Amino acid sequence: MLVVVAIAGVAVGQAALAESDDTAASASRLSKPEAATATLDGQQVYNNVCIACHHPPGIGGAPAIGDRDAWAPRIAQGMETLIDHALRGYSGSTGIMPRKGGRLDLSDEEIIGAVEYMVEQATP
Ligand code: HEC
Repeated sequence: MLVVVAIAGVAVGQAALAESDDTAASASRLSKPEAATATLDGQQVYNNVCIACHHPPGIGGAPAIGDRDAWAPRIAQGMETLIDHALRGYSGSTGIMPRKGGRLDLSDEEIIGAVEYMVEQATP
């Protein structure tokens, strides 16, 4: 008899756990509707997009990731300028940085994450 109660207790416990997992998952889906479209973090965006030009030694005049000498004067312009140039594109003294690296389907936040990631790689 005791055994039966114990087993029933475990089963109920598991059902409750499974239910609370479901509830947590659907609650987070509800609070974040944009989560349906996967958001890439800065490193993922870099590895998928920016790497095409910013991988060392840097294609078409692009400052290579991790190249502190190339990045120092750019970082000195301030994050706002770097982000603006990455989002809207620009033609600089070494080449042409295409708007959003050519990936107009990515969100501003994803591009900003990639800029921050590249800046982090170039700062001690
Ligand atoms: C088709 C090649 C190409 C791709 C792809 C590319 N870039 Fe660039 N990027 C460049 C070039 C070239 C420059 C340098 C332009 C100059 O200063 O003359 C540059 C410069 C930059 C700068 C420095 C801006 C400044 O003001 O000094 C940032 C930040 C940047 N890119 C971010 C990104 C990000 C983020 C991505 C990916 C989403 C990306 N780039 C993808 C070519 C590219």
